[in-house]
Amino acid sequence: MREQLLAAERVKAIDWRDGALHLLDQRALPFAQTWLSYHSVADVAEAIRSMVVRGAPAIGIAAAYAVVLGLRARLQAGGDWRAALQADFDLLAASRPTAVNLFWALNRMRERLDRLKDGDDLLAQLEAEAIGIHQSDREANLTMAQLGAELIRKHQGNAQNLLTHCNAGALATGGFGTALGVIRAVFHDGLLERVYADETRPWLQGSRLTAWELAEDGIPVTVNADSAAAHLMKTRGITWVIVGADRIAANGDVANKIGTYQLAVNAMHHGVRFMVVAPSSTIDMAMEHGDDIILEERAASELLELGGAPIARGVEALNPVFDVTPADLIDFIVTEKGVVDRPDAEKMAQLMCRKRLH
Ligand code: MRU
Repeated sequence: MREQLLAAERVKAIDWRDGALHLLDQRALPFAQTWLSYHSVADVAEAIRSMVVRGAPAIGIAAAYAVVLGLRARLQAGGDWRAALQADFDLLAASRPTAVNLFWALNRMRERLDRLKDGDDLLAQLEAEAIGIHQSDREANLTMAQLGAELIRKHQGNAQNLLTHCNAGALATGGFGTALGVIRAVFHDGLLERVYADETRPWLQGSRLTAWELAEDGIPVTVNADSAAAHLMKTRGITWVIVGADRIAANGDVANKIGTYQLAVNAMHHGVRFMVVAPSSTIDMAMEHGDDIILEERAASELLELGGAPIARGVEALNPVFDVTPADLIDFIVTEKGVVDRPDAEKMAQLMCRKRLH
């Protein structure tokens, strides 16, 4: 299965080449595949803020490579490069608040730097760390794809109609995707009938990114309005909702794209299983409850304008772009360390003590 998935990999969004970071501009998809090149921390921070790169693991990976760019520039400039590099860490940490993978990746880069001694090749060591973060995310996705597909086979072996939200695919990660990794594996198993992709207002990650990724792979996909999800669960034989995550609290509460919470409520009502797929870098054991997670709010114009033209007048708009799904609405959290069934604080703590499965 791992080899089959590797052979089928088509979509890639992050490339580290010739000492620069190259990002597929997600704002231009699906109509143009435009690669942008980055040589400075400030530009990568802006790319994260302005949604060129998005999705929790992808943001973390981009930030890790940005630290390498920062170190190179600071070493070249001379002087107190450590203090200057701290400003780079701070700038990257301020780019988006919710996805913990950003902070996790910055911590890993910081820890590696702190372990190095004068005389070590700092740049080569940090570059190796960033590449390691990227590669291990891709590996984790392959493991999770297999674990998630196994769960689906075990619970209902027949053809599956799956529903997903936002983009949790290759674009949002180091490769293959988290939720879409599982969906790809189910497809390769011959068990997939159709994927329903919530369009995911207001940035339309579902129709612009998820549907594009799946169509590129020849996987049957139908886009639906977010508000159609409950109706589809009732009428289209949806068996599982499968989503990614931006931050998972120590008690198993899951922050993900706005609209995920209402999907979980609806899934429970309709007897549809609810699976969250995320690497352990998305689990924040320092965050006791999901309610403590900072949920990004974006500009009102994202709701009050469509394609640059106003669609409402004289009103305020509230635009939280993430929500928290309580753990008791979740059937499974799938990670590269294993699967947590009906998550709670004790099971999450046990999971985090385990090693990666591959
Ligand atoms: O605002 P975005 O596009 O960065 O939000 C992305 C999501 O919410 C994804 O579902 C989540 O990061 C999971 S990515 C594997």
